[in-house]
Amino acid sequence: MSGGWLIAVSAFDAAFPVGDDPVQSALHAASPEAREIARLWWVMFWTCTVVFFAVVVFSLRAVSRGAGKGPPGGVNGFVIGGGIVLPVVVLTGFLIYSLRVSVLMGRPSDAETIEVIGHQFWWEVRYPDHGVVIANEIYMPAGERVRFVLKSADVIHSFWVPNLHGKRDMIPGISNEFWMQAERAGEWRGQCAEFCGIQHALMAFVVVALERPAFERWIAERRSQIPPDSRIALRGREAFERHGCGACHAISGLPGVTASIGPDLTHIGSRHTLGAGTIANTPGNLAGWIANPQAIKPGSRMPPTYLEPDELHALVEYLGSLR
Ligand code: CUA
Repeated sequence: MSGGWLIAVSAFDAAFPVGDDPVQSALHAASPEAREIARLWWVMFWTCTVVFFAVVVFSLRAVSRGAGKGPPGGVNGFVIGGGIVLPVVVLTGFLIYSLRVSVLMGRPSDAETIEVIGHQFWWEVRYPDHGVVIANEIYMPAGERVRFVLKSADVIHSFWVPNLHGKRDMIPGISNEFWMQAERAGEWRGQCAEFCGIQHALMAFVVVALERPAFERWIAERRSQIPPDSRIALRGREAFERHGCGACHAISGLPGVTASIGPDLTHIGSRHTLGAGTIANTPGNLAGWIANPQAIKPGSRMPPTYLEPDELHALVEYLGSLR
């Protein structure tokens, strides 16, 4: 990067600081890429603001001068200068600047690979190098450019973590590559950014960035399987098998249960939310979700499950123990 560019960028950042609060916002950047995008946005915003007020001033001046009187410098000079030369210069500047930002975004890296598959209306998250599968949460090492492979199982979705990067579509039949990083440990919310059906708005996820040693520990914990640790949890596992939950959901370690129609439940007890960011993961919410997901997220792909109260209680106990 040239010295002049660095000085311009530093001066601009000092004038228009980009916060890094954990609110979901592209203007609260927590990565170099998001910072570039926020900067590009502010440059365009202020340039367009100046152009807008210039147009208003000239319009008012034209009206107040009345008919028959041309602008200063003659009609031709004004139209050619303000109507052709100026827009060409401004728009070319925007084009060059945004291309420069795009090139910075696309630098590849061969660090960690995470595969994310969009489903109506949840996110399947795979760590192919570690044999780990989770859902609706993305744990990644902080300070590293992670390679994301983005796919879709049904319709077009769009992967977007505003604090960390721009959007990238997930298209059926296509694998999109994307490099995203978090410059520090923290949590940020992500959201589907392409209308994909009735529950598009409730298709969210959380990104958790951990320092490398904590991330390694997290991976090691995901690879271990948890057997039921109590009589009631054992009963819950029987209910899971008897009611055919395994037709849609996988639990690592349960023989023959490998489906990926619905989210993998191997470590569901440790998840922040249920229904892809719809409700908090508490025993009460989990029971309500199993009994009637349509009351909580109408249009989601999961049907109601009819269970006796003590069976439902045991199932919630079992799922909650999968941490
Ligand atoms: Cu998936 Cu909108």
